[in-house]
Amino acid sequence: MWGGRFAASPAEIMQEINASVSFDKVLAPQDIRGSKAHAAMLGETGIITKSDTREILRGLDQVAAEIADGSFTFSRELEDVHMNVESRLKDLIGASAGRLHTARSRNDQVATDFRLFVRDAADALIVAIGGLQEVLVAKAEEHAATVMPGFTHLQPAQPVTFGHHLLAYVEMLGRDRGRFVDARRRLNECPLGSAALAGTSFPIDRDKTAEELGFDRPMANSLDGVSDRDFALEVLAAAAITAVHLSRFAEEIVIWMTPQFGFIRLSDRFTTGSSIMPQKRNPDAAELVRAKVGRIAAAFQSLLTVMKGLPLAYSKDMQEDKEAAFDALASLRLALAAMTGMVGDLEPEKEVMRAAAGRGYSTATDLADWLVRELKMPFRDAHHVTGSIVKAAEVRGLDLENLPLEVMQEVEPRITNGVYSVLSVENSVKSRRSYGGTAPQNVAKMARAWARRLEKERAGR
Ligand code: ARG
Repeated sequence: MWGGRFAASPAEIMQEINASVSFDKVLAPQDIRGSKAHAAMLGETGIITKSDTREILRGLDQVAAEIADGSFTFSRELEDVHMNVESRLKDLIGASAGRLHTARSRNDQVATDFRLFVRDAADALIVAIGGLQEVLVAKAEEHAATVMPGFTHLQPAQPVTFGHHLLAYVEMLGRDRGRFVDARRRLNECPLGSAALAGTSFPIDRDKTAEELGFDRPMANSLDGVSDRDFALEVLAAAAITAVHLSRFAEEIVIWMTPQFGFIRLSDRFTTGSSIMPQKRNPDAAELVRAKVGRIAAAFQSLLTVMKGLPLAYSKDMQEDKEAAFDALASLRLALAAMTGMVGDLEPEKEVMRAAAGRGYSTATDLADWLVRELKMPFRDAHHVTGSIVKAAEVRGLDLENLPLEVMQEVEPRITNGVYSVLSVENSVKSRRSYGGTAPQNVAKMARAWARRLEKERAGR
């Protein structure tokens, strides 16, 4: 492969550690796209002849077709996807194939291919996140007034609405999407034409190839062009954060599905049975979404560590940028698809949620707020009084809602019948109308606003 300079073939183990074709063959479509743009530019600038250009483009289309229909055989002796494609091109068109690599190196070639791949993946993820947001918003609107316990420390805290809870994830996913959109904007510069590291003496037109490949502009420094992978790091960081959000939600689904909680139902479509315990209904899809964050976050860490301390410009270390990234981006897509399916499928058990929302003196804060509002008590005092009332209720085994007025008056004589208006979970959530609060009217309004926004974004794509 290296012509004159090498007399012997590489050792078996050298091939084994060096060859990347077993995994970088997935870059073939991007590789061929990049090569076509390069060949066309070489023709237009007169660096190679029009007839060589025509031959190369025709040959590359045929290679692409062979790869697409599965008839292409990748060979490890040819090391990587780039050499495999070029070698087949030579079989097909002969000598002209040798002109394709003019003013180019595998260093700028692989940087371009990987960027195109990561960009495609980011675009798909942006769409997939939008899809999940849409199903969440639809569910949230439907359940704007469905009450459930809100938790802190996983202890009942204050009642919230199920719609509000779902919209919290819509907000997180909105930021996740934003991170991919931002990363994509920075990523969208073309390294092709950086050549091995220093640029080239040929009169190439980098604006042309950049435009042809859908980039905003060529990268401004050839050393940077071949040696940075921050675009992949950014996208993987965004992927890791998204995966963390999905993992938290998945964990909630798992908890809500337990008979002890019983807050939601998932149909047979998203659960599995046990081979030994016939009564079981396991939330495997949620558990796997919960787990995917492991490999996704690891991919970020892996590439970060590969890049650390690498001197400029290209080193073979950078071949290790691919496998984990491919896996992480595919895993996130799968996790998003599974979550989208589960959200569409799940139904809340409204009665169970309603009953749970009332337990644990969840409206105690409403009682304290009432004392502040109606009796002009300082909040700290109201907190103390409410604590005593909760204790009295506990002793009697009663909810606040059902605690007799006299019992409350023993603690604070100025309390009146009016207090009961704030002690039900429905009234509690209804009263939380502050911006961003859980009141059903807020949730319905937010859900509609999100639905409009997502519809606009979908139309803009
Ligand atoms: N397979 C290589 C990679 O993925 C392509 C670039 C090889 N460049 C080199 N100078 N050996 O990084």
